[in-house]
Amino acid sequence: MSPRAVRRPDVPGEFDAAAGSYDGLVGASPGYHEHLLLSARRMQLPGRGAGMRLLDLGCGTGASTAALLAAAPEATIVGVDASAGMLEQARAKSWPSTVSFVHAPAEGLADAGVRGPFDGVFAAYLVRNLADPDPVLGELRDMLRPGAPLAVHDYSLSGSLGSRVFWTAVCWAVIIPLAGVRSGRTALYRYLWRSVLRFDLAAELVTRLHRIGFVDVRADPVPGWENTIVHTFVARHAGDG
Ligand SMILES: C[S@@+](CC[C@H](N)C(=O)[O-])C[C@H]1O[C@@H](n2cnc3c(N)ncnc32)[C@H](O)[C@@H]1O
Repeated sequence: MSPRAVRRPDVPGEFDAAAGSYDGLVGASPGYHEHLLLSARRMQLPGRGAGMRLLDLGCGTGASTAALLAAAPEATIVGVDASAGMLEQARAKSWPSTVSFVHAPAEGLADAGVRGPFDGVFAAYLVRNLADPDPVLGELRDMLRPGAPLAVHDYSLSGSLGSRVFWTAVCWAVIIPLAGVRSGRTALYRYLWRSVLRFDLAAELVTRLHRIGFVDVRADPVPGWENTIVHTFVARHAGDG
């Protein structure tokens, strides 16, 4: 019997099933939390974030929320995710009263009462999972205050053959077997492998963000072993209303 494949609409449901083992798996990935913090800091939020409202879209178990909180400890932060299981893990952690969580799909923020303006939006490992990223990115752009940053942190290959080969080797030699050992489930991580190969290259995501109307768009790789496969994309609302 061939293993079941994950389709995009199943993604939040698969995260429900993987939620209990998610923190253990990402904790075993060298640099995971440090790279999230680096991306949150690359938003260059002023001071300690006092008086600011930030959105962590696709917050999962709260790893990216914790990075945003470390970068802006005095900000008010809303974490949003479509997976109830991932949110349950996030809510079980200890947070200041300025952090809250909402169960909603990225495609239905307004219906869930998540409305701007925001002084910054963080989307870590989310955009690649969206069936149609452009409308969501367009809505995020409109929810940002003029000049405020969006940071997309994701697997996005540099485009070299080496980056594709390296990604495939890491997935099949490490990530997928480790997920099998730790959780007994590999479908989500086989989907991860495919989704990265299909997703925008770093330069393509920069072009996409420009096309949607963001300005000052830049892509910076993370340091270390993920240098050619994980980037931070920081883009700003143009300020044209
Ligand atoms: C790989 S996890 C990343 C979680 C967290 N941002 C982190 O950095 O650890 C991706 C998250 O995106 C969520 N997600 C996927 N598609 C979504 C959608 N359409 N709307 C909202 N959340 C979604 C999943 O439920 C999952 O929790």
